[in-house]
Amino acid sequence: MSKKGFIFDLDGVIVDTAKYHFLAWQRLAKTIGVDFSEVQNEQLKGVSRVRSLEKILAWGDKTLSKTEFERLMNLKNEDYLSHVNDMEDSEILPDVTKTLDFLIEKNQAIALGSASKNATPILEKVHLLDKFEVIVDGNDVSKAKPDPEVFLIGANLLKLKPEDCIVFEDSVAGVQAANTANMISIGIGENDVLHEADYIFKDFTEMSQEFLEGLISGDKTKQVKKNLPINN
Ligand code: BG6
Ligand code: MG
Repeated sequence: MSKKGFIFDLDGVIVDTAKYHFLAWQRLAKTIGVDFSEVQNEQLKGVSRVRSLEKILAWGDKTLSKTEFERLMNLKNEDYLSHVNDMEDSEILPDVTKTLDFLIEKNQAIALGSASKNATPILEKVHLLDKFEVIVDGNDVSKAKPDPEVFLIGANLLKLKPEDCIVFEDSVAGVQAANTANMISIGIGENDVLHEADYIFKDFTEMSQEFLEGLISGDKTKQVKKNLPINN
């Protein structure tokens, strides 16, 4: 049977932490007089802590000294970690464990590809760390999604070609990173947000075993040029 690399994003794909990032950023942004919407928050998903604060400052037309920038990033992380500390296994998103176990049973390679510097403690907290052969997180990369670096490092560590890897992502930046890496991109979330993905599911409960088997066998492939205008 063929072996594929399945690379999972963490926040918003494996665990329901995207809401905690949003809460923490929103609270922090308020302290410097910046307000942003849930729609704008989509642009913060998948991107690094540094890049997120840069975007928030740009939205509010603010500039900060380097020291103040560092201080605010730390404050946001402390606030975020206060939510994470209370996390339980029940915050693993629906059917994620079932999907991981199915892929493990089928002898597939599994990696984490996350922008978060908190990835390992979060996976430990929800008792999923041992499901991953390889972890690539915010501590290992120098370029934030949509740069494909995080996924390319993952493929390399799994000793698989990028075209033999499949990425699960809830963010626009992450879907773009997977596409640039020439991997099959599977959006987890809403169609209108994640339309650049090759396949989109609301969550893992909607993904059948037949679909996963199709990815493993290579029947399900990358969907090229699907977004081009018809007369192109
Ligand atoms: C991504 C999240 O997974 O990790 C972003 O989608 C977050 O919202 C980024 O900013 C960095 O996470 P952390 O935990 O290092 O602040
Ligand atoms: Mg995410």
